[in-house]
Amino acid sequence: MSLPLPQAVTVPQLTLMKGEGRKIAAMTAYDASFARAMDEAGMDVILVGDSLGMVVQGRKTTLPVTLADMVYHTACVARGIRHALLIADMPFLTFQGAPTDALKCAGALMQAGANMVKVEGAGPLVENVAYLCARGIPVCGHIGLTPQFVNTFGGFKVQGRGAQGAELKAQAQQLAAAGVGVLVLEAVPAPLAAEISQMVTIPTIGIGAGVACDGQVLVMHDALGLGVRRPRFVRDFLATGGGIAGAFRAYIDAVRTGAFPSVEESYTG
Ligand code: KIV
Repeated sequence: MSLPLPQAVTVPQLTLMKGEGRKIAAMTAYDASFARAMDEAGMDVILVGDSLGMVVQGRKTTLPVTLADMVYHTACVARGIRHALLIADMPFLTFQGAPTDALKCAGALMQAGANMVKVEGAGPLVENVAYLCARGIPVCGHIGLTPQFVNTFGGFKVQGRGAQGAELKAQAQQLAAAGVGVLVLEAVPAPLAAEISQMVTIPTIGIGAGVACDGQVLVMHDALGLGVRRPRFVRDFLATGGGIAGAFRAYIDAVRTGAFPSVEESYTG
């Protein structure tokens, strides 16, 4: 039997956790049952990622995911959560146009139950970030290997190596100045992610970005050994035993104690 958890996680609490050196455990979910199991295990953040295009819908990229898909899955996940902060991805092309269009799409996700929306990229998109933040929509940034840019990158490749590192640092600063409350760093060298995490006061959540980030996120299917791709930062937490709830608890524990990710599960440069 599960006990009620003390209170819902909020964006300011995540900032507090960073200040206190407490690691943030985050994972993706796409339905109420898995979301409930994660929530009861004590996950701080649950992300309805547009990775659902790949792990749920079986597509090659996240690009075909629609706003309607995201709204549907966000509402499903929201019904399973009592404790964790719920972040929902803004899918491809819902954020890149007029600020009023971005606001409408973000609003649909918030009304479906999200506490925060996540957007991939920086540069010209930063203006829309500030627009949403000023209107009561908390925004999570996402830089590095942003899967919506897979065609620009020419594949799912590590970002921020060499001279590119300065560009990523500038993006992190721009997004923080625009008001993002959390920043996801995906597939970037661990030393660069450590530098960015030190540089900004907002919490960073890494995926393939080393242990120095303020928190970690994994795609649920990867954490349960069901991933299609097997990048080096993936660990199968189900393999260690204890069933699905045990896998979520093992993940949370490994994130909180700094046992995940290891050096072998990180990019060094
Ligand atoms: O879509 C997703 O699941 C994500 C995570 C990989 C961070 O953006």
